[in-house]
Amino acid sequence: MPAQSVEHSIPQPVAVGRKDEPMPQKVTAPQILARKGGPKIKMVTAYDAPSALIADRAGADIILVGDSVTNVVLGYDSTLAATIDVMVHHTAAVARANPKALVLGDMPWLSYHASAEETVNNAGRLVRAGGAGAVKLEGGRKRIPAVRAVLDAEIPVMGHLGLTPQSVHAMGGYKVQGRQAHAAYELISDAHGLADAGVFGLVLEGVPDVVASVITEEVQVPTIGIGAGAHCDGQVLVFHDVLGLGGEWTPKFVRRYANLADDAVVALERFFADVDSGVFPSDEETYHMPEESAEILRGFTQASDSLLADEAMEN
Ligand code: KIV
Repeated sequence: MPAQSVEHSIPQPVAVGRKDEPMPQKVTAPQILARKGGPKIKMVTAYDAPSALIADRAGADIILVGDSVTNVVLGYDSTLAATIDVMVHHTAAVARANPKALVLGDMPWLSYHASAEETVNNAGRLVRAGGAGAVKLEGGRKRIPAVRAVLDAEIPVMGHLGLTPQSVHAMGGYKVQGRQAHAAYELISDAHGLADAGVFGLVLEGVPDVVASVITEEVQVPTIGIGAGAHCDGQVLVFHDVLGLGGEWTPKFVRRYANLADDAVVALERFFADVDSGVFPSDEETYHMPEESAEILRGFTQASDSLLADEAMEN
């Protein structure tokens, strides 16, 4: 028995609410690349099977299993807490929902910084054990060797430039990037470098709209913006931000389309009130046994009650 026995196969899609439907046609990285300048690319995060199903039903092209899972659902205050194990775990949960959307696994901090071998192994885990169809990693030209290594392993890579949360300490906080001409020029050069290296798309996060616009015009791969204005080839937001499932504070670039946390509190309050008043569960929400069996059971309990009473008397 080999020592590493856990992650040897792509997770089998289980039917989560889609049992009898045929296997859907999956969105692929080359299809996303071909969307450059075409219909806008719609991307949203998801970290588990139910949210992946919701994103897929809504028509997402790409479901990003972002390392934001750490702040959004695991209670950490940054993405630096994400490990490759955490990312594989959540990517596999999303992949088991069997979405049509491309499942994009995020490479966490330090999973692609040390060596090409480690980088490829970690990207491979997101694909093999996590079921991702592509991976994303943060950073500019200095990450090109990592990008090349992953591409050499036949895994499509998406780049991520601008306000890259894994660089929070190096950036001195979560700050919009590329506000000065020289910094913008560096970002544009990074975008060219990554595109030339072969990424199939670029997330542009927290950059002025004009910078995103220049990159979108100049670079031959689709740009997907988050806090990068309206000129990108697509947009991405965090699932919980869109649906109002997170905290009160959200960044300026978030548009909230629902307040599901408020709805959830109201629903749970109603449940608890029904428990208090005894109207939950109703007869229809209760399992029953045939009346004859119930009669026999009542007889048993009466008989055992009197046996227990006799025993107590004797002692
Ligand atoms: O982890 C994440 O959610 C991301 C998006 C913000 C693009 O990388």
